[in-house]
Amino acid sequence: MAKASTEQSGPRHVAIIMDGNGRWAQMRGRPRLFGHHAGAKRVREIVEACPDAGVKFLTIFAFSTENWKRTQSEVSGLMSLFQRYITGEAKALKENGIRVRFIGDRMRLATKLVDLMDDLELMTSDNDRVHLTVAINYGGRDEVARATKRLAQDVADGKLKPANVDEETLPKYLDTHVLPDPDLVIRTSGEARISNFLLWQSAYAEYDFLDTLWPDFSAEEFHKVVSRYGKRERRYGGVKA
Ligand code: IPE
Ligand code: IPE
Ligand code: MG
Repeated sequence: MAKASTEQSGPRHVAIIMDGNGRWAQMRGRPRLFGHHAGAKRVREIVEACPDAGVKFLTIFAFSTENWKRTQSEVSGLMSLFQRYITGEAKALKENGIRVRFIGDRMRLATKLVDLMDDLELMTSDNDRVHLTVAINYGGRDEVARATKRLAQDVADGKLKPANVDEETLPKYLDTHVLPDPDLVIRTSGEARISNFLLWQSAYAEYDFLDTLWPDFSAEEFHKVVSRYGKRERRYGGVKA
C-alpha cells in the first residue's frame, strides 16, 4: 500500500516526460533532429539541479516503445544521438557522482548501444549523488508484460506460489525494481497525458504539466515545479491528518 513519506516535503524521485523537441525545431524551421539535439543538451543542467532541489532520483523518458512508429531517419537519428550522448557524457557523469541506470527493453536496441549502456551503468555503479534513470525503448505496458512473463516463469519453476503474488511481488519484476516510486511526474510541451510512462509506479504520483517545450526547460523552472510540489497534500486515499 502506498505510504505517506514524512521524511521530506520535496519530491525524492522526479520523473520527466521530455516532450516538445520536434515542435521546438519546427518553430525555428529546422529538422526534428535539431530539436532532439537541443533537448539532449538540457539534461545535464537538470541533473545538476537535483541535489539542491533535494531530488535524489531523476528518471527521464527518452524513447518510448511507440516511438518506433516515427520515420526511419528520425529513429536512427535518435539512436545515434543516444550513442553519442553516452560516449560524450560518460566521463562527466562518473566524475559528478551520477549513478546511471537504463530501463526499457534492450532486445530491440543495437548491440553497440546496449554495450555503451551496460558500460555506463557499470562505470557509475559506485556513485550516489544523483540516481539518473534513462528510459529507452520503454513502455509501461511492455514493462508490466515483460515482468509478468518472468513472474510466470518463476511460478512454472516452482519458485513462486500464485497465492503469494500481491502488489509487493510484481514490482520486484519491473525494470525499476531498485527505485522508489516517483513522487512527481513532469511533462513538458503542453500535452496532458502520460503516454505509457511508469504506469504501475506512478499510481500515486503528483503530476505537473508544463507548456514549456523540453529544449527550453531550465533549472530555474525545475526548482519552481519542485517547490510547487511541496505545497501539495498527498492523501493516498486517506483523509487529511
Ligand atoms: C520528445 O519530443 C522526444 C521524443 C519523443 C523522442 P518529440 O519528438 O515528441 O517532440 P514533439 O512532441 O513532436 O514536439
Ligand atoms: C512521450 O512523448 C515519449 C517521450 C517523451 C520519449 P511522445 O511525443 O512520444 O508522446 P505522444 O505521442 O505525444 O503521446
Ligand atoms: Mg511528442
